[in-house]
Amino acid sequence: MTAHDVRVSGTGKLAYEDAQRSSRRLDDPAILALARRLVVFNVAGEQIATLMDLARKGIPTLTSAEVVQRVTSYNPDCFWAIAHRDRFDINAPVGEGYVSFLPLTKQGLSQLLDGTLDRRNPPLSVISAQHEKPAGIYVWHVYAPGQLAAAVPLIVQKMWSLHRQDVDIYSWSINGEAARFVEGFGMRLAPKLAGSTAPQFHLFRRSMTRHQETTFCAMPGRQSPEPYISVRVARTIDDFMRAAVIRGAVFIGEQKCPYDEEFDGNDFTATHLIGYVGNEPAGCLRIRYFSDFAKLERLVVRREFRSSGLARKLVDSGVEFCRTKGYTRMCTYAQKRLVKFWNKCGFSVSDTARELVFSDFDYVEMVCDTSRAVGTISFETDPYVVIRPEGSWQETGILERSKARGASRPSAEGVAA
Ligand SMILES: CC(C)(COP(=O)(O)OP(=O)(O)OC[C@H]1O[C@@H](n2cnc3c(N)ncnc32)[C@H](O)[C@@H]1OP(=O)(O)O)[C@@H](O)C(=O)NCCC(=O)NCCS
Repeated sequence: MTAHDVRVSGTGKLAYEDAQRSSRRLDDPAILALARRLVVFNVAGEQIATLMDLARKGIPTLTSAEVVQRVTSYNPDCFWAIAHRDRFDINAPVGEGYVSFLPLTKQGLSQLLDGTLDRRNPPLSVISAQHEKPAGIYVWHVYAPGQLAAAVPLIVQKMWSLHRQDVDIYSWSINGEAARFVEGFGMRLAPKLAGSTAPQFHLFRRSMTRHQETTFCAMPGRQSPEPYISVRVARTIDDFMRAAVIRGAVFIGEQKCPYDEEFDGNDFTATHLIGYVGNEPAGCLRIRYFSDFAKLERLVVRREFRSSGLARKLVDSGVEFCRTKGYTRMCTYAQKRLVKFWNKCGFSVSDTARELVFSDFDYVEMVCDTSRAVGTISFETDPYVVIRPEGSWQETGILERSKARGASRPSAEGVAA
């Protein structure tokens, strides 16, 4: 279990409030300033037991010191002690708090997520050795009363050494306060595996590059059918390459569409959504905009990822994206064989049922009439929201953060009066 002692979020208010106020993510190097009065270090076995005895006063169900010593003997990175810098002496290092981790193998991570991992007494076979790259890192216990909580990001960033820098961090919060604590550092509730008996974990995702991180989640409240399915707005040429490759494989490869018809000159005037299964680009959807409707097109899922629910999630996301832009009518020209699929996504054949033939398939016009989203971006919307990255309108954007630098007009001719 991840034992966030109440004091982490009780007397540890300083770090919690700092994290909340600054909304600094765990991977933001500037967050390390919170730990400027602290040091973190590895300790010997008996200190593990002493620190765990302290923690056990608040968490009677804490696992035994022998278990943690066994795991830490196998991988010394599993246990980090925390102390105040001004009290720390390398000749007699004494910890005041600690954070322990389980760096999990692929098998260990899947057991964690499906609820079959014995988190109180995990077998060494599911723990990665120090030289190995884990599939995920589980925050096992945290005992960091008072200001010691500020060391948590420092330790987490240590865990992201070079060979682990893109490994996701999982934690389980013992109560709502602990959940708010980790959320202050940018951790978010992870969707649960269907049929899993595990509790709901918080996740800090590092398994994607920064530009991929923003998940455009459609239909709030609807559970993703699979924890690793996500849909993100394409923001870079690299992202567009993902869409182009998927469309090339399916439309050109499977459906024999000529290249010039597939890449029809409309790609750079459109929004592209990319669907991921884990870190793998598995599907995409293109959206184009007109005066009174938006058009969803080029929906595709790679053959090996079909029937995962990704196509449905792409369409849901596309509709939600358009609703947030203020569109209430979405249309698609559906391959006739897929009318039932589009019906499931809330589209119906339009009243006029106009039919088309192109690129060797027959299509029918389908529409989805809906309402504008709550929080539609309109002229009245805060300009700082308007300049956020498309689809990430709920999160503080990079330009907004830059306002803290003020208007120094660096390249202006001369200095303004
Ligand atoms: C069409 C396509 C995107 C569907 O992808 P998928 O991953 O199989 O779809 P999903 O798993 O999200 O399925 C969502 C639902 O639609 C249903 N569905 C999927 N394909 C269907 C089909 N051909 N006919 C009827 N229903 C279908 C699924 O059974 C599922 O139903 P459920 O929610 O009741 O379980 C995929 O088959 C594909 O990429 N085909 C080639 C590209 C293509 O033809 N695109 C044209 C789009 S107009």
